[in-house]
Amino acid sequence: MKVLVTGAGGYIGSNTSYLLLQNNFEIVALDNFSKGYREPLGFLEKKFGKKKFVWEEIDLVSGNLDLFLKKHKVDAILHFAALCNVGESWEDPTKYFSNNIIGLQRLAASAIKNNIKNIVFSSTCAVYGDAQYIPIDENHPLVIPSSPYGASKKICEEILGWYSKMDLLKYVFLRYFNVTGASDDGQIGDSKNPSFHLIQNALRGALGIEKFELNYAPVNTPDGSPIRDYVNVIDLARAHMLALNYLVGKKGESNIFNLGTGIGNSVLEIIKIVKEKTGVDFPVSMSANRRKGEADKMIADITKAKKVLDWKPNHTLEQSIDSLLIWYKSHPQGW
Ligand SMILES: NC(=O)c1ccc[n+]([C@@H]2O[C@H](COP(=O)([O-])OP(=O)(O)OC[C@H]3O[C@@H](n4cnc5c(N)ncnc54)[C@H](O)[C@@H]3O)[C@@H](O)[C@H]2O)c1
Repeated sequence: MKVLVTGAGGYIGSNTSYLLLQNNFEIVALDNFSKGYREPLGFLEKKFGKKKFVWEEIDLVSGNLDLFLKKHKVDAILHFAALCNVGESWEDPTKYFSNNIIGLQRLAASAIKNNIKNIVFSSTCAVYGDAQYIPIDENHPLVIPSSPYGASKKICEEILGWYSKMDLLKYVFLRYFNVTGASDDGQIGDSKNPSFHLIQNALRGALGIEKFELNYAPVNTPDGSPIRDYVNVIDLARAHMLALNYLVGKKGESNIFNLGTGIGNSVLEIIKIVKEKTGVDFPVSMSANRRKGEADKMIADITKAKKVLDWKPNHTLEQSIDSLLIWYKSHPQGW
């Protein structure tokens, strides 16, 4: 199968490309490098060759996507490219709406024009907003997403939903919870600098790459710190492979799957694990106010992905942390 990967220079796009190439997929990749890097694409090109992996610098908002898709005939699209820093989306919502919604809209229109029927869309648990029940399944209402970023993803889902209703394309929405870890060999990790992910930040702090102090907002959980569901990036990548086989191979219908582990860890528990692994402790403080849009607890119900995609996470949190440690030790400044 030949697949277009958008946002391939980013954390999840590069890790998923790596796994797909190891499993004999052919990949055409694009990125505008606003947040991602050319280096992982160079790494993949060198390792797998230009017959299996080609990439171009293209911006989804302004690039000539029709020409690109005409040139590279693909069977399906994995659409990772987006801005995804929740905090930044509160500061500049317009940037998030323009990039994420217009980018998706232009990509979908071009896919339809070029007769590409299958798209796997990177969505997020942020579309659920405050959880009305735990664990969160795919039928949980999407009333008010937890941030402008979450809202941009919800609108993208609606756009793709309409195209699917009109039989113009088929989608799989993968709603990720908190993604962590690196490739199992530690070769491809997360270069976000500064990172806005707790585990990544804590490990960078423990290795002395940058200063890390934990400041968390008080919430209503047993230890008072937010509880999240941390899923390994390679488990997540494998779910994309299964979603492609489901859409293209098995001719599955449009569908939605949560990707998490079904297990929640509080921020304080994560800090304890990182401390045990690295021997480094951090200053911890509590801010007076709850952060905007910060939910107490987000844990996925992954029954549907297990049943329909035959997917289950098989990395522990410890394994995710170990792979990230290898990555950060070999790439302290990222790519
Ligand atoms: N990391 C997480 O925990 C998480 C959780 C839920 C959902 N997601 C979603 O997964 C996807 C990938 O996330 P990530 O952590 O790899 O982020 P990332 O920032 O590392 O990667 C995103 C990539 O998209 C590229 N990009 C952005 N706008 C573009 C545009 N207009 N044209 C071309 N390229 C563009 C960036 O340069 C970057 O390389 C995103 O859609 C994100 O919303 C991530």
